Amino acid sequence: MHVADLFGRPLGNLRLSVTDRCNLRCLYCMPEADYTWLPREQILSFEEIERLFRVFVRLGVRRLRLTGGEPLLRRDLARLIGMLRGIGGLEEIAMTTNGVTLAESAEELARAGLDRVTVSLDTLDPARFKEMTRRDDHARVLAGIEAAAAARLSPVKIDAVIVRGVNDDELVPLLTYGASTGAEVRFIEYMDVGGATHWSPERVVSRAEILEAIGRALGKAEPVDEGGAAPAERHRLPDGKVFGIIASVTAPFCRRCDRSRLTADGLWLTCLYATAGIDLRGPLRAGASDEELAEKLAGTWKSREDRGAEERIALRERSAAATPEELRRDPHREMHTRGG
Ligand code: GTP
Ligand code: 5AD
Ligand code: SF4
Repeated sequence: MHVADLFGRPLGNLRLSVTDRCNLRCLYCMPEADYTWLPREQILSFEEIERLFRVFVRLGVRRLRLTGGEPLLRRDLARLIGMLRGIGGLEEIAMTTNGVTLAESAEELARAGLDRVTVSLDTLDPARFKEMTRRDDHARVLAGIEAAAAARLSPVKIDAVIVRGVNDDELVPLLTYGASTGAEVRFIEYMDVGGATHWSPERVVSRAEILEAIGRALGKAEPVDEGGAAPAERHRLPDGKVFGIIASVTAPFCRRCDRSRLTADGLWLTCLYATAGIDLRGPLRAGASDEELAEKLAGTWKSREDRGAEERIALRERSAAATPEELRRDPHREMHTRGG
Protein backbone atom coordinates (compact mmCIF):
# COMPACT_ATOMS: atom_id res chain seq x y z
CA MET A 1 0.00 0.00 0.00
CA HIS A 2 1.21 3.51 -0.80
CA VAL A 3 -0.24 6.45 1.09
CA ALA A 4 -0.16 10.06 -0.07
CA ASP A 5 -0.75 13.22 1.93
CA LEU A 6 -3.07 16.15 1.12
CA PHE A 7 -0.58 17.53 -1.44
CA GLY A 8 -0.08 14.12 -3.05
CA ARG A 9 3.33 13.63 -1.44
CA PRO A 10 4.11 9.94 -0.79
CA LEU A 11 5.47 8.57 2.48
CA GLY A 12 8.73 7.54 0.85
CA ASN A 13 11.62 8.43 3.10
CA LEU A 14 12.11 7.84 6.80
CA ARG A 15 14.81 9.45 8.91
CA LEU A 16 15.42 7.35 11.96
CA SER A 17 17.24 9.00 14.84
CA VAL A 18 18.90 6.22 16.83
CA THR A 19 20.18 8.44 19.64
CA ASP A 20 19.80 12.07 20.73
CA ARG A 21 23.38 12.12 22.03
CA CYS A 22 26.22 13.74 20.16
CA ASN A 23 29.99 13.91 20.58
CA LEU A 24 30.26 17.35 18.91
CA ARG A 25 28.66 20.68 19.79
CA CYS A 26 28.20 22.40 16.44
CA LEU A 27 27.40 26.08 16.86
CA TYR A 28 24.35 25.89 14.55
CA CYS A 29 22.89 22.89 16.38
CA MET A 30 24.10 22.56 19.99
CA PRO A 31 25.46 25.93 21.15
CA GLU A 32 24.21 25.68 24.76
CA ALA A 33 26.15 24.60 27.86
CA ASP A 34 23.84 21.71 28.77
CA TYR A 35 20.91 19.73 27.44
CA THR A 36 17.92 17.67 28.52
CA TRP A 37 18.47 14.12 27.26
CA LEU A 38 15.77 11.58 26.49
CA PRO A 39 15.30 9.13 29.39
CA ARG A 40 17.13 5.88 28.71
CA GLU A 41 14.14 3.58 29.36
CA GLN A 42 12.18 5.44 26.67
CA ILE A 43 14.72 4.75 23.92
CA LEU A 44 13.34 2.15 21.49
CA SER A 45 15.13 -1.19 21.42
CA PHE A 46 16.36 -2.58 18.08
CA GLU A 47 13.46 -5.04 18.12
CA GLU A 48 10.97 -2.20 18.61
CA ILE A 49 12.56 -0.18 15.81
CA GLU A 50 12.43 -3.16 13.47
CA ARG A 51 8.78 -3.78 14.29
CA LEU A 52 7.81 -0.16 13.53
CA PHE A 53 9.98 0.00 10.46
CA ARG A 54 8.27 -3.02 8.90
CA VAL A 55 4.99 -1.15 9.17
CA PHE A 56 6.51 1.94 7.54
CA VAL A 57 7.77 -0.18 4.65
CA ARG A 58 4.30 -1.68 4.23
CA LEU A 59 2.97 1.86 3.75
CA GLY A 60 5.50 2.72 1.06
CA VAL A 61 8.74 3.79 2.74
CA ARG A 62 11.62 2.82 0.41
CA ARG A 63 14.52 4.89 1.68
CA LEU A 64 15.86 4.88 5.21
CA ARG A 65 18.40 7.27 6.68
CA LEU A 66 19.93 6.70 10.10
CA THR A 67 20.61 9.93 11.98
CA GLY A 68 21.19 11.15 15.51
CA GLY A 69 22.49 13.14 17.33
CA GLU A 70 25.44 11.12 16.20
CA PRO A 71 24.19 7.68 15.08
CA LEU A 72 27.54 5.98 15.65
CA LEU A 73 27.15 6.58 19.39
CA ARG A 74 24.39 3.97 19.43
CA ARG A 75 25.99 0.74 20.56
CA ASP A 76 25.95 -2.15 18.10
CA LEU A 77 24.57 -0.09 15.21
CA ALA A 78 25.76 -2.66 12.66
CA ARG A 79 23.41 -5.21 14.22
CA LEU A 80 20.45 -2.85 13.72
CA ILE A 81 21.48 -2.24 10.11
CA GLY A 82 21.60 -6.00 9.53
CA MET A 83 18.10 -6.41 11.00
CA LEU A 84 16.63 -3.61 8.86
CA ARG A 85 18.48 -4.74 5.74
CA GLY A 86 16.58 -8.00 5.93
CA ILE A 87 13.24 -6.29 5.39
CA GLY A 88 12.05 -6.77 1.81
CA GLY A 89 11.08 -3.84 -0.40
CA LEU A 90 13.66 -1.41 0.93
CA GLU A 91 15.73 0.42 -1.70
CA GLU A 92 18.47 1.92 0.41
CA ILE A 93 19.86 2.52 3.88
CA ALA A 94 21.96 5.66 4.25
CA MET A 95 23.39 7.44 7.29
CA THR A 96 24.18 11.03 8.21
CA THR A 97 27.14 11.16 10.61
CA ASN A 98 29.65 13.69 11.90
CA GLY A 99 32.34 11.17 10.98
CA VAL A 100 34.30 11.35 14.25
CA THR A 101 34.32 7.57 14.80
CA LEU A 102 33.55 6.51 11.24
CA ALA A 103 37.08 5.34 10.42
CA GLU A 104 36.72 2.61 13.06
CA SER A 105 33.36 1.30 11.84
CA ALA A 106 33.01 2.00 8.10
CA GLU A 107 33.96 -1.53 6.99
CA GLU A 108 31.69 -3.23 9.51
CA LEU A 109 28.74 -0.99 8.63
CA ALA A 110 29.17 -1.62 4.91
CA ARG A 111 29.30 -5.37 5.54
CA ALA A 112 26.12 -5.16 7.63
CA GLY A 113 24.28 -3.59 4.68
CA LEU A 114 24.69 0.17 4.93
CA ASP A 115 24.68 1.60 1.39
CA ARG A 116 26.13 5.09 1.75
CA VAL A 117 27.01 7.89 4.15
CA THR A 118 26.84 11.65 4.31
CA VAL A 119 29.45 13.22 6.56
CA SER A 120 29.13 16.70 8.05
CA LEU A 121 32.25 18.79 7.49
CA ASP A 122 32.07 22.56 7.69
CA THR A 123 35.73 23.53 7.57
CA LEU A 124 39.17 22.33 6.49
CA ASP A 125 40.92 24.25 9.25
CA PRO A 126 41.46 22.25 12.48
CA ALA A 127 41.44 25.38 14.68
CA ARG A 128 38.21 26.59 13.12
CA PHE A 129 36.73 23.10 13.48
CA LYS A 130 37.40 23.35 17.20
CA GLU A 131 35.69 26.74 17.37
CA MET A 132 32.69 25.46 15.42
CA THR A 133 32.23 22.15 17.28
CA ARG A 134 33.97 22.68 20.65
CA ARG A 135 35.90 19.45 20.08
CA ASP A 136 39.35 18.78 18.65
CA ASP A 137 38.38 15.99 16.24
CA HIS A 138 39.06 17.42 12.79
CA ALA A 139 41.65 14.80 11.78
CA ARG A 140 39.31 11.98 12.82
CA VAL A 141 36.54 13.33 10.59
CA LEU A 142 38.87 13.50 7.57
CA ALA A 143 39.98 9.93 8.32
CA GLY A 144 36.29 8.95 8.51
CA ILE A 145 35.57 10.39 5.06
CA GLU A 146 38.50 8.48 3.58
CA ALA A 147 37.46 5.27 5.31
CA ALA A 148 33.91 5.64 3.98
CA ALA A 149 35.19 5.96 0.42
CA ALA A 150 37.49 2.96 0.93
CA ALA A 151 34.57 0.90 2.27
CA ARG A 152 32.53 1.92 -0.80
CA LEU A 153 29.84 3.64 1.27
CA SER A 154 29.33 5.68 -1.86
CA PRO A 155 28.44 8.09 -3.25
CA VAL A 156 29.93 9.69 -0.13
CA LYS A 157 28.49 13.16 0.40
CA ILE A 158 29.82 16.01 2.51
CA ASP A 159 27.36 18.41 4.16
CA ALA A 160 28.65 21.89 5.01
CA VAL A 161 26.43 24.39 6.79
CA ILE A 162 27.63 27.85 5.75
CA VAL A 163 27.45 30.55 8.43
CA ARG A 164 28.33 34.13 7.56
CA GLY A 165 31.55 35.34 9.12
CA VAL A 166 32.42 31.80 10.24
CA ASN A 167 33.17 29.58 7.23
CA ASP A 168 31.82 31.43 4.19
CA ASP A 169 35.39 31.80 2.89
CA GLU A 170 35.73 28.01 2.45
CA LEU A 171 33.38 27.27 -0.44
CA VAL A 172 36.10 26.64 -3.01
CA PRO A 173 38.52 24.80 -0.67
CA LEU A 174 35.68 22.48 0.39
CA LEU A 175 34.85 21.77 -3.27
CA THR A 176 38.49 20.99 -3.97
CA TYR A 177 38.71 18.73 -0.94
CA GLY A 178 35.52 16.91 -1.97
CA ALA A 179 36.90 16.28 -5.45
CA SER A 180 40.15 14.92 -3.98
CA THR A 181 38.24 12.29 -1.97
CA GLY A 182 35.55 11.58 -4.58
CA ALA A 183 32.79 13.01 -2.36
CA GLU A 184 29.99 15.31 -3.51
CA VAL A 185 29.85 18.49 -1.44
CA ARG A 186 26.54 20.10 -0.52
CA PHE A 187 26.33 23.61 0.89
CA ILE A 188 23.48 24.08 3.33
CA GLU A 189 21.81 27.35 4.26
CA TYR A 190 21.92 27.95 8.01
CA MET A 191 18.41 27.14 9.24
CA ASP A 192 16.44 28.65 12.12
CA VAL A 193 15.51 25.19 13.35
CA GLY A 194 15.69 23.40 16.71
CA GLY A 195 18.73 24.31 18.74
CA ALA A 196 19.92 27.04 16.35
CA THR A 197 19.41 29.61 19.10
CA HIS A 198 22.11 31.92 17.72
CA TRP A 199 20.42 32.12 14.33
CA SER A 200 19.69 35.45 12.71
CA PRO A 201 18.78 36.27 9.10
CA GLU A 202 22.09 38.13 8.61
CA ARG A 203 24.07 34.95 9.31
CA VAL A 204 22.40 33.01 6.48
CA VAL A 205 24.49 32.78 3.32
CA SER A 206 21.86 32.29 0.63
CA ARG A 207 21.92 29.93 -2.31
CA ALA A 208 22.24 32.97 -4.60
CA GLU A 209 25.32 34.21 -2.75
CA ILE A 210 26.91 30.77 -2.71
CA LEU A 211 26.41 30.38 -6.46
CA GLU A 212 27.79 33.82 -7.13
CA ALA A 213 30.93 33.30 -5.04
CA ILE A 214 31.63 29.91 -6.64
CA GLY A 215 30.90 31.34 -10.10
CA ARG A 216 33.40 34.14 -9.58
CA ALA A 217 36.15 31.68 -8.63
CA LEU A 218 35.46 28.70 -10.87
CA GLY A 219 33.12 29.80 -13.65
CA LYS A 220 29.34 29.61 -13.89
CA ALA A 221 27.72 26.47 -12.47
CA GLU A 222 24.79 25.08 -14.47
CA PRO A 223 21.84 23.40 -12.75
CA VAL A 224 21.63 19.64 -13.23
CA ASP A 225 17.96 18.98 -13.93
CA GLU A 226 16.57 16.20 -11.77
CA GLY A 227 13.24 16.91 -10.09
CA GLY A 228 12.63 14.28 -7.42
CA ALA A 229 12.23 14.68 -3.69
CA ALA A 230 15.85 15.40 -2.74
CA PRO A 231 16.48 18.65 -0.92
CA ALA A 232 19.77 19.32 -2.72
CA GLU A 233 19.74 21.15 -6.04
CA ARG A 234 22.74 19.91 -7.95
CA HIS A 235 24.97 22.10 -10.11
CA ARG A 236 27.81 21.33 -12.50
CA LEU A 237 30.94 23.46 -12.86
CA PRO A 238 32.75 23.98 -16.19
CA ASP A 239 35.42 21.48 -15.02
CA GLY A 240 32.72 18.84 -14.49
CA LYS A 241 32.63 18.93 -10.68
CA VAL A 242 29.12 18.50 -9.30
CA PHE A 243 27.98 20.01 -6.01
CA GLY A 244 24.64 20.56 -4.27
CA ILE A 245 22.93 23.41 -2.51
CA ILE A 246 20.27 22.85 0.13
CA ALA A 247 18.35 26.12 0.24
CA SER A 248 16.01 25.30 3.12
CA VAL A 249 15.78 28.98 4.09
CA THR A 250 15.44 30.87 0.80
CA ALA A 251 13.96 28.16 -1.47
CA PRO A 252 12.59 25.24 0.54
CA PHE A 253 11.52 21.98 -1.09
CA CYS A 254 8.37 21.43 1.02
CA ARG A 255 6.18 20.84 -2.07
CA ARG A 256 8.18 17.71 -2.89
CA CYS A 257 8.98 16.59 0.65
CA ASP A 258 8.34 12.86 1.11
CA ARG A 259 10.17 12.54 4.42
CA SER A 260 9.22 11.99 8.02
CA ARG A 261 11.27 11.43 11.14
CA LEU A 262 11.19 8.99 14.02
CA THR A 263 12.99 10.06 17.20
CA ALA A 264 14.97 7.57 19.30
CA ASP A 265 12.09 7.40 21.79
CA GLY A 266 9.44 6.74 19.15
CA LEU A 267 7.91 10.14 18.40
CA TRP A 268 6.94 10.41 14.72
CA LEU A 269 7.29 13.86 13.14
CA THR A 270 5.83 14.69 9.74
CA CYS A 271 7.91 17.87 9.27
CA LEU A 272 11.34 19.10 10.33
CA TYR A 273 9.66 22.17 11.84
CA ALA A 274 6.75 20.30 13.50
CA THR A 275 6.14 21.38 17.10
CA ALA A 276 4.30 18.17 17.97
CA GLY A 277 4.48 14.55 16.85
CA ILE A 278 2.65 11.24 17.04
CA ASP A 279 3.71 8.96 19.89
CA LEU A 280 4.35 5.46 18.53
CA ARG A 281 6.19 4.09 21.57
CA GLY A 282 3.01 4.19 23.71
CA PRO A 283 0.84 2.03 21.43
CA LEU A 284 3.80 -0.22 20.60
CA ARG A 285 4.52 -0.97 24.26
CA ALA A 286 0.80 -1.32 25.01
CA GLY A 287 0.63 -4.21 22.55
CA ALA A 288 -0.87 -2.61 19.42
CA SER A 289 -1.04 -4.93 16.40
CA ASP A 290 0.70 -4.18 13.09
CA GLU A 291 -2.73 -3.34 11.62
CA GLU A 292 -3.44 -0.83 14.37
CA LEU A 293 -0.03 0.79 13.92
CA ALA A 294 -0.45 0.90 10.13
CA GLU A 295 -3.85 2.56 10.53
CA LYS A 296 -2.40 5.19 12.82
CA LEU A 297 0.45 5.96 10.41
CA ALA A 298 -1.73 5.98 7.29
CA GLY A 299 -4.41 8.14 8.91
CA THR A 300 -1.84 10.70 10.03
CA TRP A 301 -0.05 10.82 6.70
CA LYS A 302 -3.26 11.17 4.68
CA SER A 303 -4.14 14.34 6.55
CA ARG A 304 -0.61 15.79 6.44
CA GLU A 305 -0.37 19.34 5.13
CA ASP A 306 2.97 20.40 6.64
CA ARG A 307 5.17 22.87 4.82
CA GLY A 308 7.13 24.21 7.76
CA ALA A 309 10.06 25.80 5.92
CA GLU A 310 7.75 27.58 3.45
CA GLU A 311 5.61 28.92 6.25
CA ARG A 312 8.64 30.42 7.94
CA ILE A 313 9.43 32.45 4.82
CA ALA A 314 6.12 34.22 5.30
CA LEU A 315 7.15 35.44 8.79
CA ARG A 316 8.01 39.11 8.76
CA GLU A 317 10.23 39.10 11.81
CA ARG A 318 12.27 35.94 11.78
CA SER A 319 14.45 34.63 14.58
CA ALA A 320 15.36 31.20 16.05
CA ALA A 321 12.36 28.84 16.02
CA ALA A 322 12.67 28.03 19.74
CA THR A 323 14.21 29.60 22.85
CA PRO A 324 16.69 27.67 25.06
CA GLU A 325 13.95 27.38 27.73
CA GLU A 326 11.47 25.88 25.26
CA LEU A 327 14.13 23.44 24.09
CA ARG A 328 14.96 22.36 27.62
CA ARG A 329 11.27 21.79 28.34
CA ASP A 330 10.72 19.87 25.12
CA PRO A 331 13.93 18.30 23.79
CA HIS A 332 11.93 16.85 20.89
CA ARG A 333 12.20 20.25 19.26
CA GLU A 334 15.99 19.92 19.03
CA MET A 335 17.55 19.16 15.66
CA HIS A 336 19.86 16.68 17.41
CA THR A 337 16.76 14.82 18.66
CA ARG A 338 14.82 14.82 15.39
CA GLY A 339 17.79 14.02 13.15
CA GLY A 340 19.53 16.75 11.09
P1 GTP B 1 20.32 12.53 0.05
O1 GTP B 1 19.41 11.40 -0.19
O2 GTP B 1 21.75 12.11 0.07
O3 GTP B 1 20.08 13.72 -0.82
O4 GTP B 1 20.04 12.92 1.57
P2 GTP B 1 19.53 14.20 2.27
O5 GTP B 1 20.12 15.40 1.66
O6 GTP B 1 18.08 14.11 2.40
O7 GTP B 1 20.09 13.98 3.75
P3 GTP B 1 21.01 14.78 4.70
O8 GTP B 1 20.94 14.14 6.04
O9 GTP B 1 22.37 14.92 4.12
O10 GTP B 1 20.32 16.18 4.79
C1 GTP B 1 20.95 17.30 4.37
C2 GTP B 1 20.39 18.53 5.03
O11 GTP B 1 19.17 18.89 4.45
C3 GTP B 1 20.05 18.37 6.49
O12 GTP B 1 21.17 18.42 7.31
C4 GTP B 1 19.17 19.56 6.68
O13 GTP B 1 19.94 20.74 6.77
C5 GTP B 1 18.39 19.56 5.38
N1 GTP B 1 17.14 18.83 5.56
C6 GTP B 1 17.02 17.49 5.80
N2 GTP B 1 15.74 17.16 5.97
C7 GTP B 1 15.04 18.29 5.82
C8 GTP B 1 13.64 18.57 5.90
O14 GTP B 1 12.80 17.72 6.16
N3 GTP B 1 13.27 19.85 5.66
C9 GTP B 1 14.17 20.82 5.38
N4 GTP B 1 13.70 22.05 5.15
N5 GTP B 1 15.49 20.60 5.33
C10 GTP B 1 15.92 19.35 5.55
N1 5AD C 1 20.94 24.59 9.81
C1 5AD C 1 21.23 23.75 8.79
N2 5AD C 1 21.56 22.47 8.96
C2 5AD C 1 21.61 22.03 10.22
N3 5AD C 1 21.93 20.82 10.71
C3 5AD C 1 21.85 20.86 12.07
N4 5AD C 1 21.48 22.09 12.46
C4 5AD C 1 21.34 22.84 11.33
C5 5AD C 1 20.99 24.18 11.08
N5 5AD C 1 20.69 25.03 12.06
C6 5AD C 1 22.26 19.68 9.86
C7 5AD C 1 23.62 19.80 9.24
C8 5AD C 1 24.44 18.79 9.92
C9 5AD C 1 23.38 17.75 10.13
C10 5AD C 1 23.69 16.71 11.13
O1 5AD C 1 22.26 18.49 10.57
O2 5AD C 1 23.54 19.41 7.91
O3 5AD C 1 25.49 18.43 9.07
FE1 SF4 D 1 26.81 18.77 15.05
FE2 SF4 D 1 25.19 16.88 14.09
FE3 SF4 D 1 26.06 16.77 16.58
FE4 SF4 D 1 24.24 18.62 15.81
S1 SF4 D 1 23.90 16.42 15.86
S2 SF4 D 1 26.06 18.90 17.17
S3 SF4 D 1 24.97 19.05 13.74
S4 SF4 D 1 27.35 16.69 14.77
